[in-house]
Formats: sequence, structure tokens, C-alpha cells
Amino acid sequence: MSKHDKSNVLRVVICGLVLYMCTVIFLNRFPSSDHLFSTCQTIKSSNNNVAETNISHLVFGLMGNEKAWHHRKHYVEAWWRPNVTRGHLFLDVPPIGDDLLPWSLNSPPYRISEDIPKLLKETGHDDARVLRIVHGIMEVVREAREDQVRWVIMGDDDSVFFVDNMVDILAQYDHNKYYYLGGHSEFILSNYWYSFNQGFGGAGIILSYPLAKAFANNVMSCLKRYAHLKSSDRTIMLCVADLGVNLSPLQGIHQIDLRRDISGFLSYHPKSLLVSLHHYDMVNPIFPSMNRAQSGFHLQNDAKYDQSRMLQQTICHHRSQSWTFSVSWGYSVHIYETIMPRSWIQRPIETFQKWQRSPRPPHYMFDTRNPSWHPCEAPHVFFLKSVEKMQSGEIVTTYTRGWPRGIGACSSSGNYSAEYVSEIHVYSSATKRILIDRCECCNVTHETGSNKADIKCSYGGGLDSSTNLELLELDIVDGLLYPGEDKSEIYCWIDVDYVAVDLNLLKESEISAYKMSPPIRGKRQKRKRDRSLGIGVCHFRLLMKSLCSFGYGGMQWIHSIKMWIVEHLYQRPTLTRFDPERFNRINDYEERMEKYKCPKEIGDWVKLFRSLTIDKITWNLHWFPWRQVIHSSVIRPFLLLMGIRDVQPYVPLRVLRQLGKRQIIPIMENMTEFIFEVRPEIPLLEDLAQQI
Ligand SMILES: *[C@@H]1O[C@H](CO)[C@@H](O)[C@H](O)[C@H]1NC(C)=O
Ligand SMILES: *[C@@H]1O[C@H](CO)[C@@H](O)[C@H](O)[C@H]1NC(C)=O
Ligand SMILES: *[C@@H]1O[C@H](CO)[C@@H](O)[C@H](O)[C@H]1NC(C)=O
Ligand SMILES: *[C@@H]1O[C@H](CO)[C@@H](O)[C@H](O)[C@H]1NC(C)=O
Ligand SMILES: *[C@@H]1O[C@H](CO)[C@@H](O)[C@H](O)[C@H]1NC(C)=O
Repeated sequence: MSKHDKSNVLRVVICGLVLYMCTVIFLNRFPSSDHLFSTCQTIKSSNNNVAETNISHLVFGLMGNEKAWHHRKHYVEAWWRPNVTRGHLFLDVPPIGDDLLPWSLNSPPYRISEDIPKLLKETGHDDARVLRIVHGIMEVVREAREDQVRWVIMGDDDSVFFVDNMVDILAQYDHNKYYYLGGHSEFILSNYWYSFNQGFGGAGIILSYPLAKAFANNVMSCLKRYAHLKSSDRTIMLCVADLGVNLSPLQGIHQIDLRRDISGFLSYHPKSLLVSLHHYDMVNPIFPSMNRAQSGFHLQNDAKYDQSRMLQQTICHHRSQSWTFSVSWGYSVHIYETIMPRSWIQRPIETFQKWQRSPRPPHYMFDTRNPSWHPCEAPHVFFLKSVEKMQSGEIVTTYTRGWPRGIGACSSSGNYSAEYVSEIHVYSSATKRILIDRCECCNVTHETGSNKADIKCSYGGGLDSSTNLELLELDIVDGLLYPGEDKSEIYCWIDVDYVAVDLNLLKESEISAYKMSPPIRGKRQKRKRDRSLGIGVCHFRLLMKSLCSFGYGGMQWIHSIKMWIVEHLYQRPTLTRFDPERFNRINDYEERMEKYKCPKEIGDWVKLFRSLTIDKITWNLHWFPWRQVIHSSVIRPFLLLMGIRDVQPYVPLRVLRQLGKRQIIPIMENMTEFIFEVRPEIPLLEDLAQQI
């Protein structure tokens, strides 16, 4: 082999290294969740003589059971207003025990559900639990008797309702018409398992009174028709559909099909009136320093002052220190030490866990982002402490720090630590925040350099869009993509901000790969067809994460290089069988490396490279399923490939023909801005390569 060949090999090796380190990702788009964010239709009665809907027009039917009521009564008493809210709690058996009897005046009055065994017999239904709930609607209607009922609300005993908001929403609908309002599950698979057209009952199903009456009149035939169904919510949905009515989803109704710490969800609530929080028993107490019952009272106490702002997110940027505030009114405040785009911090942080096992993303009905411990990404977290009304009518909510963040300041946006901030006051106006067409904005009043751990946010009207956009232009571009002098941070920033947007999607979406038919060009080619093509998918996120945690030149780089070498310079006696269940070969590379003797010294590496000949290189990633090629990102017709010294855009779409696929010529945008050199001061080793 000539010298020239060798240097070519080396160059190819280096080239491949760059290619390999980088990744080829094709990302699926999330299922659009736009419909979730549409505001509720305003379908008001055209009859102006009809009085506004108020709380007296609502009748509640809460389906509980005696056993759980002993502790759940606290959740309901937190929102129930004795002698104001109407309705009943339906228990399976009469209550017993000193804690329940005599019956608390703060609890809803109770009724015992009708004779279930008898109803089971009459209807031929085979699930007592389902029957009791479905038949419960009829019992609520029967109990409601009195006139002036406009809406019937069915719920569970482990739900917290926000009644004023409910009234405000229902006032926008014509109660003389048939309406079936409810919420989806947050967990996509639940909707798939049950139905995307059903209201998840625990969180509240709202029927207009005419519909509830029609339902009640037909409940026996409904139970007979769907006698074998194991889901009450689904049965209700089917019977309502039989009456000619379909679900109108409401966004503020929350089934909370989530587990553990839902603070990330509650801190980034969509801009819609909060109606309910269900599964209160299934998640951690929502305030970390309180138990569930206390948390419920704490939240409802706050709701007494202003339900319309409850959990509504307000975002403000504090220019001089490059901080971003995200207020979830009445619940939490998060401070970021960098200017973040609004769209990004509207995504809930995935502090919670999945409701059920879900092998593959997408798991949730909304966008999420991952918790991070990067100083520029991790928020300082504050929770509601108290609320009070000022003489001026303004409402002040006070939030105190949940825990010290303790990971240093975000240096790329000026190194202004918010660690010393211990208390935040948010001033909001006395008027309800209903039907504001866009976000409310807040001004942060805080003196730079002040030791006072006190920040005041005051709400104003809408967004001052010109200031906001100017901020974004200056700080997002300069601050995030080019974080100061410390160029090594670029990778981390690309991680969080640029590619990262994609990376985060990666977790949430299946890598959907393009199926290709094998190119058949004679026998020789055919024999090789189990071999994959030379485009690899490495687990980008993992790699990027390691880079960020170890920094430029850290251990993980070495690992990545080793990985590349193991894949390409190690001749395997047999082909690895591709197993679609285990497509992530990055995680098990150590196992495969066992047989490979890695050179130790630099001299050994040089020797190895010098001795390389074409036949000693494995030209493909043999574990990569070659029929699947990932060739573009969701957003752009190219991919960003990360190398040791730079990041380059790469357009695999341009070589589709080589991959046996129909060639498409992509329309290219100017890719110059996607080229980053990490260490431009280090000279290229081209000359050196030529000498070898
Ligand atoms: C609700 O409106 C009705 C008239 O439809 C009225 O009689 C009732 O007093 C009102 N209730 C409340 C709590 O305002
Ligand atoms: C509710 O009304 C009843 C009778 O009208 C009264 O005895 C009771 O004290 C009231 N309860 C509350 C909590 O005001
Ligand atoms: C950031 O500030 C801290 C404390 O003031 C200081 O110790 C650290 O050196 C600063 N870092 C940079 C990169 O300026
Ligand atoms: C916020 O600050 C701007 C500029 O200083 C001012 O015009 C605006 O009225 C302030 N808004 C509030 C709610 O204080
Ligand atoms: C591409 O963009 C760069 C700056 O981002 C600019 O200098 C260059 O002229 C552009 N090229 C074309 C062909 O527009």
C-alpha cells in the first residue's frame, strides 16, 4: 500500500470519526396538540333575559366510597362550600366511625347509592362499580329535583374542583342545549385504551341539565346495552353518543394521569382556566413541605382570592441580569438565570412519571422538557407561602424558596446568581383574568447587586411585543448560541438549545426510520446485503449529555473515539445479528469492547493507524439496520453532525441514491450559520496527515 493510500485511509478514518461521533437523527413530529390549546368556544345564549349562570345553578354528584372517605373528605372539604355548592356525595355503604359521624356540615350531604345487586339483576350488567357510577347520574338528577339546575357535574371524591372557574366557563355555554364537557387523560395511551372522545370521569364530567335528564331517562337501557363494559367513563360516553351528543373537551379539567412529583406540570399550566385536579391520592403532595390534605387547603385558600389566575403562567425577562421568571400564579415561581424564549418555558418540566408502562414515546398529550442540572437551564424553585389582599385591592402572593439550587451560576449569561433570592412577591390586579387574549406580563423590580432577597413582580396588561422581541434577538442569539468566550460551552448549549430541541424530541418520539428496499445488483452485492450502510445512529443524547458533564476533552470523548474504533477497526468473526428490540448499541458497547485490545500510548495509536489497510477497516456499522436510514431532522432537510473540532451541517438527502432510495433534491437554505468551530485556534492537522 502506498503512502498516499495510507494517508487517504487515515483521512477517511478521521472523516468517519467525525461522521460517527455525530449522529443522524430523524425525528418524528409530536402528534399535534393544538386542539388542546384552543380556547373554549363561547356559545352564549342569545336570550339576554336569562340571568348569568352562577354557582347555584350547578349540581354536583360525587361518587365516593365509605372506606376512602375517611381521608378523602379533607380533599373535598377544601373546595366544597356548605350551603352554597349544591349536590351530594354518593357512598356505597352508610358511613361509620367517630370521624364521620355525626356528619360534618363542611362535607357535602351524602346519599347511599341505590340497591346495586338489584340493579345488576335488572340490567344484566356484570360490573357493580361501573353500574353504580353510571346509574349515579340518574340519582343525582333525581336528587336535584329543585328547579334552577343548569348543569350536572359528576366527579370523584379524590378530586379538587375550582368552582368559580367552572361557573365562569359554563356561563359561556347555553345550558338549554345538550352539552357533554370533560377532559382527556394526560397520558396518551389512556385515551387510546379508552377513547379520545370520552371525558375522564374522576376529573369531572359536566352535562347540561337537559342532557343529564335525557341520560337519566335512558339509563336502564344504556346499562343493558353496554352490560359488559368495564369502564364507567366509556359507558357514559357511549350512551351520550347514543343521544346524539359528543364530547367538548375542556382544557382545565385535569385527570392527572401522572405519578409522583407533578410540580413540573402545575408550574407550566396551559393558558386556560383551571377546573379540576384529580388523582390527588396518586401523586405526591403538591407542596413539598405539606401533606395532601394541607396542600389542598393551601391551594384552595389561595383560590378564594382569585381563581381566574390560578396556575396561570406569566413569564417575564429581567434584562439587566438576564433572568427569566416564570410565575404559576398561586403555586410556584421559577427563576432561570438566562433569557429563555417563552415557547420553551411553556413546556412542562418532566418532574412527573408516566401513569402506566408505556414502552415508547409519545407518553403525554402535551410537550415536555427534561429536568436539567445545567446552571443555565435549571430553575430556582419557589412555592406559594401566603396570599393577602392589599387595601388597594391588589392581591399579593408570596413565594419562598423550595430548596437551595447549589450548582453555581450560569456563566454564559453574565454569572448573575439568583441563589440569594429567598422570597418573591407577586402583585396582581383585583380584576379577574378572564378572556385576556394574550399573556399577562410582569415587571420585575429588583436592584442589581442588592442583597435583599426580595423580588417584586407586578402584572401589567398584555405583552409589550417590541421589547420582548428585542430581548429575544439580543439575548437568545448572542447569549445562548454563542455563550461568551468559553467556546467549549457551545456544545452544551447546542445540547440544550439547538440540537437539543431535537434531542428532547428524540426521547419523546420514536426514531422513525425510512424503509428502503435493498439495491439488488448481482449476486456479489446480494451476499453482502445483511451489512449495514455506513450511516450510523449513535445515541446522540447520551453522547451530548456526557460531553456536557465532562466537558471538552473529558473522558467521554475518549470513549466516543474508542467506540468508533471498535466499530470500524475491529474485525469481527461473525456479523452481529440486528435485533430491533435493542437498537441502542451505544449502551452495550463496553461489552463488545472486551475482546478489543485498545492501544495504550499515543505511539501505539500512530503505529496502528500507519498499519491500517483498506481490508482492516469495517466500513459499516454492522449493527445498524441498513434498511433504515435516517436522513433529515424534522425541522430541516439536513442534520447537524458533531465532530471533535466543529459542528457541520450534513445533507444525507443528497445521497439517497447511494442508499438505494429515490433521489430527492432538497431545497437548501443557507447552512453557513450552522457551522461552529469549537477551537478555531488549533491548526488543522492536514499537513501532518499528508506526511504519514
Ligand atoms: C343565581 O341566580 C339565580 C337566578 O337565576 C338567583 O335566584 C340566585 O340567588 C343566584 N345565586 C347566587 C349564589 O348568586
Ligand atoms: C347551612 O344551612 C343550615 C340550615 O339552613 C344551617 O343549619 C347550617 O348551619 C348551615 N351551615 C353552614 C356551614 O352555614
Ligand atoms: C462567577 O461568580 C462567582 C461568584 O461571584 C465567581 O467565583 C466565579 O469565578 C464567576 N465565574 C465566572 C466565569 O465569571
Ligand atoms: C413595566 O415597566 C414599563 C417600563 O418601565 C412600564 O411602562 C410599565 O407600565 C410597567 N408595567 C407595570 C405593570 O408596572
Ligand atoms: C449565507 O449566510 C452567511 C451569513 O450567515 C452570509 O455571509 C453568506 O453570504 C450567505 N450565503 C448566501 C449564498 O446567501
